[in-house]
Amino acid sequence: MAEKGELRFGRHCPLLLIHAVLLTLLLAVAGAFDYADALAKSLLYFEAQRSGRLPYNQRVTWRDHSGLTDGLEQGVDLVGGYYDAGDHVKFGLPMAFTVTMLSWSVIEYAEQIDHAGELEHALDAIKWGTDYFVKAHTSPNVLWAEVGDGDTDHYCWQRPEDMTTSRRAYKVDENNPGSDLAGETAAAMAAASIVFRKSNPHYAHLLLHHAQQLFEFGDRYRGEYDRSVEVVKSYYGSVSGYKDELLWAALWLHRATDSEFYLNYAIDKAHCFGGVGWAMTEFSWDVKYAGLQVMASQLLMKAKHKTHGHILELYRSKAEYYICSCLDMNNGTDVERTPGGLLYVRQWNNMQYVSSAAFLLTVYSDLISSSNKKLQCPGGLVDHEEILAFAKFQADYILGSNPMNMSYLVGYGPNYPRRVHHRGASIVSYREYRGFIGCTQGYDNWYGRPEPNPNVVTGALVGGPDCQDNFLDQRGNYMQTEACTYNTAPLVGVFARLMQLERPIQELGRGRSFPLLASYKKK
Ligand SMILES: *[C@@H]1O[C@H](CO)[C@@H](O)[C@H](O)[C@H]1NC(C)=O
Ligand SMILES: *[C@@H]1O[C@H](CO)[C@@H](O)[C@H](O)[C@H]1NC(C)=O
Repeated sequence: MAEKGELRFGRHCPLLLIHAVLLTLLLAVAGAFDYADALAKSLLYFEAQRSGRLPYNQRVTWRDHSGLTDGLEQGVDLVGGYYDAGDHVKFGLPMAFTVTMLSWSVIEYAEQIDHAGELEHALDAIKWGTDYFVKAHTSPNVLWAEVGDGDTDHYCWQRPEDMTTSRRAYKVDENNPGSDLAGETAAAMAAASIVFRKSNPHYAHLLLHHAQQLFEFGDRYRGEYDRSVEVVKSYYGSVSGYKDELLWAALWLHRATDSEFYLNYAIDKAHCFGGVGWAMTEFSWDVKYAGLQVMASQLLMKAKHKTHGHILELYRSKAEYYICSCLDMNNGTDVERTPGGLLYVRQWNNMQYVSSAAFLLTVYSDLISSSNKKLQCPGGLVDHEEILAFAKFQADYILGSNPMNMSYLVGYGPNYPRRVHHRGASIVSYREYRGFIGCTQGYDNWYGRPEPNPNVVTGALVGGPDCQDNFLDQRGNYMQTEACTYNTAPLVGVFARLMQLERPIQELGRGRSFPLLASYKKK
């Protein structure tokens, strides 16, 4: 078992495993990572990304109201939602994926999040997104896809409070379809409806209604959204198409409604939509296959799905391909790693793939733990503890257990990126200086400064190091120092689960018990 199940953290060099072990021991002595702190900070990040009118209990006080006329030109109220990264475009597809992953985190780990006293913040983070989606879905077959555009936005370096760039809104509809966007937004709203079922049943019902309509719209009027909204193409073009989002939405709607209709959709279309065909080594805002394959694997646990057992098994075999690839046990078709052991998919914003992988590994570990099984990879048998240990290794790398001794989660620990590529964080706070800072003035006076950002965008997960574990903390190095909402979202679940590992959850006792908890109890 030890040999077969061995986790080779450094891919090509056994010495690195020893290095990793030593580093882990060192940290054990120095005190392990504080996952509760990391969790709290992750949730704080979503407040820094808020667009619209900020509420009285806004905790990130270097931010203020912004984007208050979004949608006005088009005669629709699109105030609210999230800025996606260090700029001020509201991109619907990654925003929806962010909300789906936040919701999935809460659905799996509500108890742990509650014990950390963070459940209310998690629900607020989700609702800030879903409130916006409700506004953006103005009629059954109309969904507003984007506010602002990357080209004009990137021409300016301004605080969101001063924004002078175009706030034109773009939509998909019957004649300009967007099945991927509609599918992901349906998934987000269906997942969120599970989250709010007990605490806010009326809202949960509203979300589910929108989710069902959006799914129908996306399924009936087929097409990729980046053909309808061309301005999104060079920013969030849908490379994987819309079939993964439709399957993903169907599985979320099934989870939210228990209706056979949605399950049958995912079963019937398993082959022709690539659900059991595509074996993937990345899970992202664009490519949902690995995520939906893990969800389908979860269904196998329920005896009542035995009739669909064959197709669900095929889904599971693809989920296992993904998990084994992350574990470097897939007989050659594995995810690359840096010498320090970080999963490495690509140069630009690699951390998004690390956090989404850590989440799926964590959920999969729990899944095989509750089924008392082991995972059979081409490279050998793996048990649930080893899978979780690898997710922990990735999370610990993020928090500072890496060759740069750098926490890539901003604001965590003593050493973290100080020059995050983030307009609002890099310019004096609106609270301190209410004068107007213009489009190019921001570039001239703030962007190029060698000094640290005046505001810390706490909880942001930056793009992270290169393939050799090197990281350059410079504002202009956006491939490494920019953060995105969908980087942090899956970490909410991962940190919550790891917190439980460090201390039994009963001992934490900082949180209150929410009545809604009953609804998330593992099904
Ligand atoms: C691993 O790959 C090699 C070469 O591609 C193949 O011959 C072998 O059968 C594979 N082993 C497993 C366990 O899949
Ligand atoms: C990281 O910390 C270790 C142990 O304290 C030290 O040996 C190493 O030089 C540090 N590396 C960097 C890049 O600061």
